[in-house]
Amino acid sequence: MARRKMIYEGKAKILYEGPEPGTLVQYFKDDATAFNAEKRDVIEGKGVLNNRLSEFFMTGLANIGIPTHFIRRLNMREQLIRAVEIVPLEVIVRNYAAGTMAKRLGMEEGTQLPRPVVEFSYKNDDLGDPLVPEEYIIAFGWANQQDLDDIIALALRVNDFMSGVMMGVGIKLIDFKIEIGRVYDGDFMRLIIADEISPDSCRLWDIETGQKLDKDVFRRDLGSLTDAYTEVARRLGVLPKTSATGAKPTLIN
Ligand code: TYD
Repeated sequence: MARRKMIYEGKAKILYEGPEPGTLVQYFKDDATAFNAEKRDVIEGKGVLNNRLSEFFMTGLANIGIPTHFIRRLNMREQLIRAVEIVPLEVIVRNYAAGTMAKRLGMEEGTQLPRPVVEFSYKNDDLGDPLVPEEYIIAFGWANQQDLDDIIALALRVNDFMSGVMMGVGIKLIDFKIEIGRVYDGDFMRLIIADEISPDSCRLWDIETGQKLDKDVFRRDLGSLTDAYTEVARRLGVLPKTSATGAKPTLIN
């Protein structure tokens, strides 16, 4: 079989040409990076877990009427997605202070915010994804005011869905990042959820113990990242009976 054409390689995923026009194949790698790729490692099984978890969240969003790029999972590491034009923003929703917000404002991590807060970073690795105000986004033409209003509404709906799903399995959704894509139906443009939703791009804390079940385990050397993501997948019921990596069967009880 001829090798598929690679369209793009990122830090955690590769995009290949899809089987039909307007589609792509998204491949989840095991590579983990943090601090703008200054820290990197290969975490066996991460890609398999994130493929499954992103499928789970995207399917759930579609079921409540939130459009996403996800079409279907193809195999352990790949999913078929709609090709989109990515809006060059990291859309971040925060429910509790953590990470850069806690640092910037001198807040203790885990402090509940008065209401969910949406913020935007400009997607540019060379610049370290700087926080940008809406004024910049509109002035530089990355999105217009109508797009931004729609993006904020979408992000808050995703937040409600994700917070509820997580709360149901004893996990607090501290914050998360999504990316938005544009799709065109003739002259009509729609904004849909793109990229991935996984513990790589969320902060997830156990409600009872406060244990971190997200990429901070890797960023801060807090133990096994695979164990943390497996725990999230297990609680959500998305793990098959054997382990997600297809290796040794794991005990699920
Ligand atoms: P933030 O606290 O701003 O940054 P950091 O993760 O560097 O401390 O991140 C808020 C949330 O958004 C967190 O769950 C990580 C996620 N995020 C990404 O996944 N990718 C990104 O490029 C950015 C800026 C944030």
